[in-house]
Amino acid sequence: MRYLTFALGKGRLANKTLELFEKIGITCEEIRDKDTRKLIFVNEELKLRFFLAKGPDVPTYVEYGAADIGIVGKDTILEEGRNIYEVLDLGFGKCRMCVCGPEAAAELLKHHELIRVATKYPKIAKDYFYNKKHQTVEIIKLNGSIELAPIVGLSEVIVDIVETGSTLRENGLTVLEEVCPLSARMVVNQVSMKMEQERILKLIADLRSVLAE
Ligand code: PRP
Repeated sequence: MRYLTFALGKGRLANKTLELFEKIGITCEEIRDKDTRKLIFVNEELKLRFFLAKGPDVPTYVEYGAADIGIVGKDTILEEGRNIYEVLDLGFGKCRMCVCGPEAAAELLKHHELIRVATKYPKIAKDYFYNKKHQTVEIIKLNGSIELAPIVGLSEVIVDIVETGSTLRENGLTVLEEVCPLSARMVVNQVSMKMEQERILKLIADLRSVLAE
């Protein structure tokens, strides 16, 4: 039996994933050691390997087959646009991709004005404004603290993730439009899905049944 390799998005997502995997009898003790500098972790008994990667790199590892399976946010899947199968919604990491800004920006959206949109997700923003709303906008790519943009006058609105809404509230911003709901998803390499179909389908079925509990 060959190893099945998992790429997990670093951080909260990975922790939640490991908790979920434990419920279906998949454990990996050494990955939980916070001080370790190891990059790859093995469960010899089940012939599984795990590694942690930056979220946006997970679909890349999976597309190229360096990982058979990935766990990553829907936002990253949409933004990266890789050729991979999305097979399961894991139900955690729930949040929304939204167009946000000051209340006053609602008018600009309504009248399809040529506005500036700051975002960490230029592909998602472009797809939403160009293909769904048919509104021409200028997209400005940022790498974090996106809420700053409308406050300091870099853009009229932002496209960003909203979870509790407290970042928006504390900065005088609000949700203006919802782009799509988000959560953690399991993705699979297209060749692995054929070559390791039995093991992967069993894994999906096991996860489905604990998720339904
Ligand atoms: C994310 C997102 C928002 C915030 C939303 O940022 O970009 O800023 O969380 O959460 P809330 O609705 O619960 O306030 P993150 O903390 O990942 O950092 P970033 O700004 O560097 O992207």
